Amino acid sequence: MGNNLIDEVKSEQFAERMMTILNHGALNLMISIGYRTGLFDVMSELPASTSEEIAKAAGLNERYVREWLGAMVTGGIIDHYHEKKSYSLPEEHAVWLTRKAVPNNIAVTTQWISLLGSVEDKIVECFKNGGGVPYEAFKRFHEVMSDESYQTVIVPLLDQTLPLIEGIKERLEEGINVLDVGCGSGFALVHMAREFPNTRFTGYDISEEAIDRGTAHAAQYGLTNVTLIAKDVAEFDDVQKYDLITTFDAIHDQADPDRVLSNINRALKDDGVYLMQDIAGSSHVHNNMDHPLAPLLYTTSCMHCMTVSLSQNGKGLGAMWGKELATDMVKNAGFTQVEIKEQPHDPINYYYIIRK
Ligand SMILES: C[S@@+](CC[C@H](N)C(=O)[O-])C[C@H]1O[C@@H](n2cnc3c(N)ncnc32)[C@H](O)[C@@H]1O
Repeated sequence: MGNNLIDEVKSEQFAERMMTILNHGALNLMISIGYRTGLFDVMSELPASTSEEIAKAAGLNERYVREWLGAMVTGGIIDHYHEKKSYSLPEEHAVWLTRKAVPNNIAVTTQWISLLGSVEDKIVECFKNGGGVPYEAFKRFHEVMSDESYQTVIVPLLDQTLPLIEGIKERLEEGINVLDVGCGSGFALVHMAREFPNTRFTGYDISEEAIDRGTAHAAQYGLTNVTLIAKDVAEFDDVQKYDLITTFDAIHDQADPDRVLSNINRALKDDGVYLMQDIAGSSHVHNNMDHPLAPLLYTTSCMHCMTVSLSQNGKGLGAMWGKELATDMVKNAGFTQVEIKEQPHDPINYYYIIRK
């Protein structure tokens, strides 16, 4: 069969799409740099300015800033007035790109692509030989994760997420025991601990680095009702101790998620509730065709969530384990009630309200 049998129009359209993919992939890297260097924040406060003025205001090297501006202008992100050699960030774009725009700052999420790219060589090896890339290989993981979860977990936590569980805010006000499993830098616990001083909050995470970040964060507020402990949650053996247990995107990348879910079941009091925030999607790829972020999530899964689990000879569920498998696994761990809720601000996660 020769090329004369292919649909030329379809083929041309695909080539054009590939060009768009190249440009968008490149822009993603530059947007991440714009976020990290503070260029979007600086530009959002400036009138139309030259590259020298922008570099000076940002405290950055002009030559790099000018090349970055080239990508931003030709990519349609920043406006350029060539006669005045000046550049401006439209307000309509700034509301999705600046620190002031949090929790709507999509530039935060662009950091994942660079972070994933940093382990590409190791992932290619895994494609050939199996195995996985361990958590420690992902430099800046906990920094980017807490940036991201500040928007998706912390900001909506008190007014949108907790109210998904009837009566829980009243119980938190009275004083209960809460555990966050795979708490990362513990920012969710610190946020709740400030709001509910009568409740005792515990967080477990395997990463000493994340626990240290969280402990320092809790100390900033002088909190005495938060305890963060470096611990492998496949091993914890608390019994009937907690009224509320939470996991925020922390089950699907576990080495042994079945055991972690059983441990959570055992640690929860009989009338307690388990809130599992985890990636939205179906376990079947054909059901994810209309998911607005499916390619991003499968990529993040392959190059982080799945591989970190496989690096420990784990199950390698991946971020797109999906609600069908998640529901089965939660029930196999001993829970009987699983309700799946969604929130309009968050196309990335489901909120599973789980009871014994
Ligand atoms: C995707 S991150 C989510 C972190 C945090 N919940 C958040 O929303 O920012 C998953 C977390 O699970 C932790 N983790 C992975 N395997 C673990 C294990 N076996 N025991 C304890 N923590 C683990 C990782 O260190 C990481 O902080």
